[in-house]
Amino acid sequence: MIIKTLGISTSPRTNGNSDLLLREALAGAESAGAQIEYIRLSDLNIGPCIECNACYTTGTCQVQDDYQQLLKKMLDADRLIFASPVFFMTVCAQAKMLIDRGQCLWAKKYILKKQLIRPQRDRRAMVIVVGGSKSKKQFESIRLTMKYYFDVLDINYAANLFINKVDRLSEIQKHPSALKEAFRLGKELIATNTPPPQNPVNVELT
Ligand SMILES: Cc1cc2nc3c(=O)[nH]c(=O)nc-3n(C[C@H](O)[C@H](O)[C@H](O)COP(=O)(O)O)c2cc1C
Repeated sequence: MIIKTLGISTSPRTNGNSDLLLREALAGAESAGAQIEYIRLSDLNIGPCIECNACYTTGTCQVQDDYQQLLKKMLDADRLIFASPVFFMTVCAQAKMLIDRGQCLWAKKYILKKQLIRPQRDRRAMVIVVGGSKSKKQFESIRLTMKYYFDVLDINYAANLFINKVDRLSEIQKHPSALKEAFRLGKELIATNTPPPQNPVNVELT
């Protein structure tokens, strides 16, 4: 069985810390036999939710940009790895724009009562986040946002890799334990012989 694994990098900077960790996690997934795809959000044209609420009656987003093609991949994926820097105690604006566009999925499920994903599908997601400060409080707000996003996406929230005190561009390359954990968690995410966890596995490193 092919496990399709989609990695979404939301950092605006090339070779950002969260991006490098994402690529390690994808390498881990690939080493376990997954079919991987890597997407940089900055390469796509995806705008914010404009709150037109058209999706409340149609279940689809009326804003025409690259979101539709990305959403198709996200719904098709068996595994999703979502990477973001911490910006002002939460995910970056690029990531938040993508998350907010999920309102059409919320409307489809909870207003129109339509099925999004076949119920028995084993879908699992992992979050990778890097912050520059020593604060760990920021991970709480991200945890909450991602929980609700993954609920809407019908995907099990399987793991978090949260790193703080890493600020400069590509500085994560000097953090071998973070890279190692990203690879390990990416590999573990592919498992199909264990039930999805009730709560996400949390790895927090400084
Ligand atoms: C606009 C902006 C806001 C930021 N806010 C925070 C913050 O609230 N907490 C924090 O720990 N780091 C903050 N940072 C630092 C980044 O999280 C840090 O540099 C991180 O390594 C960037 O990850 P990236 O290389 O994957 O983009 C901020 C950086 C920017 C540019």
